[in-house]
Amino acid sequence: MGEVTVRALREVSLDVRGGEMLAIMGASGSGKSTMLNILGTLDRPTSGRYFLDGEPVEHLDEYELSRLRNRKIGFVFQSFNLLPRDTALANVELPMVYAGMRPSQRRERALWALERVGLADRVDHLPNQLSGGQQQRVSIARALVNQPVLLLADEPTGALDTATTKQVMELFCSLHELGMTVVVVTHDPTIAGYAQRVVRFQDGVIVSDERRSSAVGGAA
Ligand SMILES: Nc1ncnc2c1ncn2[C@@H]1O[C@H](COP(=O)(O)OP(=O)(O)OP(=O)(O)O)[C@@H](O)[C@H]1O
Ligand SMILES: [Mg+2]
Repeated sequence: MGEVTVRALREVSLDVRGGEMLAIMGASGSGKSTMLNILGTLDRPTSGRYFLDGEPVEHLDEYELSRLRNRKIGFVFQSFNLLPRDTALANVELPMVYAGMRPSQRRERALWALERVGLADRVDHLPNQLSGGQQQRVSIARALVNQPVLLLADEPTGALDTATTKQVMELFCSLHELGMTVVVVTHDPTIAGYAQRVVRFQDGVIVSDERRSSAVGGAA
């Protein structure tokens, strides 16, 4: 920031295992989103290394990174980030358009993903014709349609009511049970309760890393 250096993360070492469901917690400004953006290869650390699915990523250029993200990572954001003029189906097809998949196969996979999130009867709706929870489920369908190894969610239920939050978290748990690695940023302890592991950040540093044998939502 001009003359001032902001250290969003310092000396962070984090190893996320395949198949883990991890919650990242911490106060506003503690570095949670920065951490998630590094895991998602949207941000590059100024120093240090990041290995995704066992591969170092620092030598990759923007084009290679975008291909890697498209194949390996699903993103879910607080504000859904759906294209407003596209139907639910078209929004879910988008990552496969980028991946260069045939239209018929794209459609089939998108329908499968929308069915997976319980929206088979809403495929032709535009985002503004869907409730907040339904929009978030469309964005989850979009995130999982390329069958990524890693699902990253930044405050995914921040804009949702309690009942819808539960639905969305149960959806994450069922994806985790199918073997997907899930990392959720949240300031809400109830949401973190769905995860088997909770990492807490404070001022850019990891201050605790707890594993639990039983979580609210799923398998231990
Ligand atoms: N683009 C940027 N330029 C400069 N400083 C930034 C930038 N993005 C974030 N920061 C700073 O880095 C630190 C960590 O920010 P980050 O967005 O990771 O926090 P967070 O834990 O996600 O907070 P919140 O819960 O409010 O979303 C903060 O001090 C923030 O002000
Ligand atoms: Mg944040």
